[in-house]
Amino acid sequence: MASNITLTMIKPDGVADGFTGKILDHIIAAGFKIQAMKLTRLSTEKAQEFYAVHKERPFYGELVAFMTEGPIVAAVLEKENAVEDFRKLIGATNPANAAEGTIRKLYATNIERNAIHGSDSDENAAIEAAFHFSGLERF
Ligand code: CMP
Repeated sequence: MASNITLTMIKPDGVADGFTGKILDHIIAAGFKIQAMKLTRLSTEKAQEFYAVHKERPFYGELVAFMTEGPIVAAVLEKENAVEDFRKLIGATNPANAAEGTIRKLYATNIERNAIHGSDSDENAAIEAAFHFSGLERF
């Protein structure tokens, strides 16, 4: 059964480019409820941990450098079928391949600096939500 939460991060490019408000508008208009949210900055160790699954990829070092270059907005979002619906809302990893109207098509720069993260499975959504937030920070 599909879980009803996903974890998002507006990445350092999206925050630095001033797109936080516009991106949150898309998320809320699409029917997601914000369970938890914060402006934060990943340390190198935390970014390495979050992206450990990509450790062997050639872009891992660059990805960690990018994700630590400035603040991010992390949030837990709630909606029926949250993981799948959110991935549709943000669009393909590479904005060049993202559908019109998706967040990445509108606000991302390239395959690395792609503005926003969305969990890829219910299992990872739970892990990633716990990575960023304690139970007391979720409503
Ligand atoms: P996301 O899918 O949120 O999580 C993994 C991230 O790695 C991805 O977004 C991009 O930011 C980055 N990424 C994926 N593929 C590449 C690539 N080929 N080159 C550089 N960065 C990438």
